[in-house]
Amino acid sequence: MSFNTDKITGFKEGFLWGGAAAANQFEGAFDKDGKGLSVQDVTPNGGFGEITDGPTEDNMKLVGIDFYNRYKEDIKLFAEMGFKTFRTSIAWTRIFPNGDESEPNEAGLKFYDDLFDELNKHGIEPLITLSHYETPLHLSKEYDGWVNRKMIGFYENYVRTVFNRYKGKVKYWLTFNEINSVLHAPFMSGGISTSPEELSEKDLFQAVHHELVASALATKIGHEIMPEAEIGCMVLAMPTYPLTSNPDDVIAVMESERKNYFFSDVHVRGEYPGYMKRYFADNNIELDVTDEDLELLKNTVDFISFSYYMSSTDTADQSKKVKGEGNILGGVHNPYLEASEWGWQIDPKGLRIVLNDFWDRYQLPLFIVENGLGAKDELITDENGNKTVNDDYRIKYLNDHLVQVKEAVKDGVDVMGYTTWGCIDLVSASTAQLAKRYGFIYVDRHDDGSGSLDRYKKKSFNWYKEVIETNGESLKA
Ligand code: BG6
Repeated sequence: MSFNTDKITGFKEGFLWGGAAAANQFEGAFDKDGKGLSVQDVTPNGGFGEITDGPTEDNMKLVGIDFYNRYKEDIKLFAEMGFKTFRTSIAWTRIFPNGDESEPNEAGLKFYDDLFDELNKHGIEPLITLSHYETPLHLSKEYDGWVNRKMIGFYENYVRTVFNRYKGKVKYWLTFNEINSVLHAPFMSGGISTSPEELSEKDLFQAVHHELVASALATKIGHEIMPEAEIGCMVLAMPTYPLTSNPDDVIAVMESERKNYFFSDVHVRGEYPGYMKRYFADNNIELDVTDEDLELLKNTVDFISFSYYMSSTDTADQSKKVKGEGNILGGVHNPYLEASEWGWQIDPKGLRIVLNDFWDRYQLPLFIVENGLGAKDELITDENGNKTVNDDYRIKYLNDHLVQVKEAVKDGVDVMGYTTWGCIDLVSASTAQLAKRYGFIYVDRHDDGSGSLDRYKKKSFNWYKEVIETNGESLKA
């Protein structure tokens, strides 16, 4: 007996190539056809910024890129690139405008029926996030978002409704976008209206617990309603490196990584890891956890999906932690890496590290559902008179990351697919700018609200088309 020594040389057949977006960042039509307000409609400066009393004209997300009205044209372009899948979210507030109603809004349900039909017509598999930073504003104001246990019931009602409606049309589901981000952006991610300064650690982890239970409940209900469905968790992945070989730095890194691993550990293993129970005990955090909760958590996911934009670096030496020197979630500056125009440190090898680590830890299929470069693009007219963007920097970024994905695949890691973030330009989550562009398709809209909303193919459009056509063989190592 010997094991199969055939070398894996590339992406598997049926690899799910595609792109990703989220309802609140591109649909626009923020109050059309009965839609209610979400937390996004009151954050004109992005998820970490000021919260307004109501929607304000300067909020770019209210119009987005008008995908709500132009989705057929956009899906046609996705199909032209050869997309096998397209990830978007259902805006919870189109289905339940306030979040706590018992009856859904038919016009909202109808929109997603049409959208999923359109995708399926083009042979593009919908990959659907149930909650992508889109908590109904009413649930935030009235209940303090996920701090409140009642949220589990509201979310259950919502997911049951959409599972029943879209069974047969949608096979791949994600329960919460970047579920671990609630620790860093309680309002945007968890609809928590208590300000971060006033929010206790106990309430924050109680909100986390409610989301974890709700996620497991969605997985359970989803499997009951749609036996053929595959349901995954979605985490923000950020490998962390020690600043030095000092064991204290290595321990500091282990501890900061646990704040992320905790979420995937619960989703995959169906129970809280020992290190978190210890953390709660050491910090006198007594959570309200029922026996029923613990039973529900045992409904584990079919795959792990994640976003990857950057790695992080950490140290135990507090004097080296200069604020603003690290990446979006803090940490310290890594002198070996270049950064994007928004200060996000670019690290293709970090993606391979994430893939290998997740696989070694869980042996569950992995899906990269966000990766990309936010950059300022210049629209030019080429020699044929066509408007385009020469985005070689974006091609390089994506190529280098995909080369590392291939390395992990060669190690035997089961990667299901790859969807680039913002395959068509959309509004940024952290800064609410359209100037931070990720797309293969340029959208003529600007941060002062001007622009025709016309779409133009960037140079990366044909590059990605070829990557998909060759199943990754055209990548340059
Ligand atoms: C992820 C989010 O954190 O990063 C997306 O899931 C977001 O919603 C993406 O858009 C890129 O971040 P940003 O701030 O550049 O839009």
